[in-house]
Amino acid sequence: MGRALVTGGGSGIGLGIARALRDAGHEVTVVGRREEVLVASGFDYTVADVTSGSLHMVGVDHLVNCAGHLEMAPVGEWTAEVWRRLHEVHVVAPAMLAQAFAAQACQVGEGTITNIASTLAVRTDHGLAAYSAAKAALVSLTRSLAIELAPRIRANAVLPGVVKTAMTGSRADDLVGLHPLGRLGTPDDIGQAVAYLVANAQVTGEVLSVDGGLLL
Ligand SMILES: NC(=O)c1ccc[n+]([C@@H]2O[C@H](COP(=O)([O-])OP(=O)(O)OC[C@H]3O[C@@H](n4cnc5c(N)ncnc54)[C@H](OP(=O)(O)O)[C@@H]3O)[C@@H](O)[C@H]2O)c1
Repeated sequence: MGRALVTGGGSGIGLGIARALRDAGHEVTVVGRREEVLVASGFDYTVADVTSGSLHMVGVDHLVNCAGHLEMAPVGEWTAEVWRRLHEVHVVAPAMLAQAFAAQACQVGEGTITNIASTLAVRTDHGLAAYSAAKAALVSLTRSLAIELAPRIRANAVLPGVVKTAMTGSRADDLVGLHPLGRLGTPDDIGQAVAYLVANAQVTGEVLSVDGGLLL
């Protein structure tokens, strides 16, 4: 067991991950920008924007990159700012946090990085180009980290289907039909998957769909 840092851990999927890792015996710290959300989570927390600077990683054994947001724009409405914002939070920040983690963390024992990507890394839809491209880059980053940081650190990614959170809101209910299992995912479904990836010493570079069959 060890110390886990979950970005975006104050709400939604990140909170489900924080709960699952706590239930597996880890000490969990959650990271986000809104202090009131972090306080309400009940976990130890650090207030930080993952896109602006690094976090203190000394003593951290498990890094989960879950912070993110969705912006939709069809081709005609793209701006460089939208593309940059989505890549900053979903690719640049996880890369820089992984670098800091590798440099400062888990001097003794095995560490893990788990990146929360999306089924939209491998499929897409109207208005989702920048988000899908960023999540695809996050999957690619995960594979690079798995090779470069072995054997000291394992790196894996999770691809959630649609989960009802503040990010997806009431739109999520209209998307149940995309899932052959006939249900949306829950933050706890994703949390269980992360706990498995953190626990299993032989799994690295894995891209695990937790999507009710959506990608089928
Ligand atoms: N919901 C889905 O269907 C779904 C599906 C696939 C993948 N995902 C991914 O799952 C992750 C979590 O999303 P969610 O659905 O759980 O949405 P959510 O409830 O809105 O959670 C997003 C979390 O990220 C934090 N965050 C966002 N930008 C941040 C930043 N720059 N620095 C620090 N923290 C930041 C937010 O806190 P603050 O605003 O307080 O900073 C919030 O706690 C995202 O990466 C998302 O892309 C979601």
